[in-house]
Amino acid sequence: MAGNRTFTMIKPDAVGANNTGAIIKMIEEAGFRIVAMKMTKMSGERAGQFYAVHKERPFYADLCAYMSSGHIVPMVLEKENAVADFRTLIGATNPKEAAEGTIRSLFATSIEANAIHGSDSDENASLEAGFFFSETERF
Ligand code: GTP
Ligand code: MG
Repeated sequence: MAGNRTFTMIKPDAVGANNTGAIIKMIEEAGFRIVAMKMTKMSGERAGQFYAVHKERPFYADLCAYMSSGHIVPMVLEKENAVADFRTLIGATNPKEAAEGTIRSLFATSIEANAIHGSDSDENASLEAGFFFSETERF
């Protein structure tokens, strides 16, 4: 991925509130190109695999239930400095701490139902893109 790609997923609260289009518009207007995208759902087991890094945290079971509660929109995005710039665009994990104008400040409803995911490193961006998309789909 060499620093110019990241992975994101619009979460069930934002898809359920019909904010998918508004969020995609913000992503495109911020200069990200969508390289792969789909509307899908995760089982609780798949959500557990995706967030395995958090399996010792007290909120893990809730997080897996929430992430499998409705449709999600995973995407691979391209832009220079993609990982860091995208984390800036989405804002802090807790919407109460998210900077004004960020996606989470506008659309998140709680620290858990926080509208959108953004990869935290180039390595994780690549792994997470591979979790949802084949090599051909994200070429
Ligand atoms: P992601 O982009 O989704 O990975 O969020 P993040 O990197 O900003 O936060 P982190 O990886 O630490 O946490 C992953 C997800 O777990 C968050 O986005 C929230 O949905 C959820 N989460 C994090 N902290 C808490 C918490 O204290 N309580 C609850 N209920 N959920 C949390
Ligand atoms: Mg994270």
